[in-house]
Amino acid sequence: MQAEQNVSVWTSGLILGGLAAVCTALVALTHSTTAPRIAANQQAFLEQSLQPVLAGISYDGTLSESTKTIPAPHDLPGNDDVTVYRVYADDTPIAALFVVSARDGFSGPIELLVGIHADGTVTGVRVLKHRETPGLGDLIEASKSDWILQFVGKSLGEPPAAAWAIKRDGGEFDQLTGASITPRAVINAVKETLLYFADNRATVFERTEEI
Ligand SMILES: Cc1cc2nc3c(=O)[nH]c(=O)nc-3n(C[C@H](O)[C@H](O)[C@H](O)COP(=O)(O)O)c2cc1C
Repeated sequence: MQAEQNVSVWTSGLILGGLAAVCTALVALTHSTTAPRIAANQQAFLEQSLQPVLAGISYDGTLSESTKTIPAPHDLPGNDDVTVYRVYADDTPIAALFVVSARDGFSGPIELLVGIHADGTVTGVRVLKHRETPGLGDLIEASKSDWILQFVGKSLGEPPAAAWAIKRDGGEFDQLTGASITPRAVINAVKETLLYFADNRATVFERTEEI
C-alpha cells in the first residue's frame, strides 16, 4: 500500500514537472517571437510621438538610435538626466529634441519636448506630462489650445532675452487667462534649453561620447 502511494506521488510529481517544463518553454517561445515586434512597435510609437516637434524635417535612420543622455547635474531645466534625440541628414546635424522638465509649474514639474533646429531656432514644443489644472494651466497642451505653438521659429535673439516672458511681464508671449504661473514655467524652460543648446551645440551632436 505504502509502495503504491509512493509510485503515485512520483507519477504526479513527474507529470507536474513535465507540465511546468512545457509551460516554461511556451512562455520562452512566445517571448522570443513577440519581443522583436514589441520593440518595433515601441520604436514606431516613439518616432510618432516626436514628429510634432520635427516640423516635417526628414532625417537619417531612427531617432532612438541617435539618443543621448545628459547626466544630471546639468544646466537644463529639471533635476534628472535628460534624454536628447539627435536628428541628422546625410550625417549633418539638423536638430536636437530635448526631454526637459520645467520645475516650477503650478502643480509640480511640467515635462516638455523641446525641438531646436541646428541654427538655434525652435522647431516645436510639446507638453509630455503635467499636473496643471484643467481649464487653466492645462491649456499648454496642444490638444486644448494653440498656446504652445507660439514657440515655433523663436530663438534666443528673436525675441531678445528680456522678452522671453508673458506680455504682462513685458514679454512677447501670450498669457493664459487666470493662469500665469504655468506659462512662465514653460517659457523659462524653453529659454533655458535654448541657452544650454547655444553653449553645448558641438557636444550635443557629438556621436560617440556621452556629455
Ligand atoms: C484651484 C486653483 C487652481 C489653479 N491652477 C492654476 C494652474 O494650473 N496654473 C496657473 O498658472 N495658475 C493656477 N491657479 C491660479 C494661480 O493661483 C494664480 O492666481 C494665477 O496663476 C494668476 O497669477 P497672477 O496672480 O500672477 O496673475 C490656480 C488657482 C486655483 C485656486
